[in-house]
Amino acid sequence: MPAEGADHGGFFLTLEGVDGAGKSTLARALAERLRAAGLEAVLTREPGGSPGAEDIRRLLVEGDPDRWSAGTELLLFTAARADHVEKLIRPALARGAVVICDRYVDSTRAYQSVGRGAALADVDALHDRMIRLDPDLTLILDLDPEVAETRQTGAAKGEDRFERFGADFQARLREAFLAIADADRDRCAVLDANAPVEALAEAALAAFNAKHSEMAAS
Ligand code: TYD
Repeated sequence: MPAEGADHGGFFLTLEGVDGAGKSTLARALAERLRAAGLEAVLTREPGGSPGAEDIRRLLVEGDPDRWSAGTELLLFTAARADHVEKLIRPALARGAVVICDRYVDSTRAYQSVGRGAALADVDALHDRMIRLDPDLTLILDLDPEVAETRQTGAAKGEDRFERFGADFQARLREAFLAIADADRDRCAVLDANAPVEALAEAALAAFNAKHSEMAAS
C-alpha cells in the first residue's frame, strides 16, 4: 500500500535538521501561534512521543555509538515510529489536529542511511510497509554543524550517542537533509536556522498557511 497523503482530516508537519539546529524551540513557538489562531496543535517528537516509543528512545540515544549496527538501529527507529504513529499521531490527525513532530522519517533517511550506511531502499521499504504516513509539510532547519555543535544539549541528559559520531557525520547529515529538500520541493521547505526564533516561527506559519490553503483547495 503506498504511503498516505492528507486523507486524515488533520495536518501533519515535521521539523528536521542536524543536532542543535533549534527544532524544539521552533516547534514550541509554532504551536503557540497555531493555538492562538484557534487550532488544536499537538507537539510531539521522535524517537519517542508515546510511552512505548519513549522506552525504545532510551535504547537509541544513550550509550556507546557502536552499540547498534545501522540495520538494527533502523529497525528500532521504525518500531518506535510505528507505536508513535499508531498511538498518538493518527488519532490526533483523525480528530483534525495539527501535529508538529520534532523529527520523523527524514531523520532516518539522513542518520541511518547517509550517516550510518543502511540502504535507503530498506528505510523506504519499511516506511511504506509499516508506517504508511507521510508529512503534509516538512520544515528543514539548515545550520552549519559547527554552529549547531555549540547549541547541542544531549550530553547533559546522557542522550548524546549521535552527537558523538563527530563533526564529519554532522556535515554529511546537513547535506543529506538539503538533498531531501531538493528532491521533494512540494513537501519540504528549508529555513535558515541562524534567524531569530520569532522570524523562524513566522516563516514556519507562512509555510503552514500556504500548504493548508493548497490542501483545502484540492
Ligand atoms: P532528538 O531528541 O531530536 O535530538 P536533538 O534534540 O539533538 O536534535 O533526537 C535524538 C537523536 O536521534 C538525534 O541525534 C537524531 C537521532 N535520530 C536518528 O538517528 N534517526 C531517526 O529516525 C530519528 C527520529 C532520530
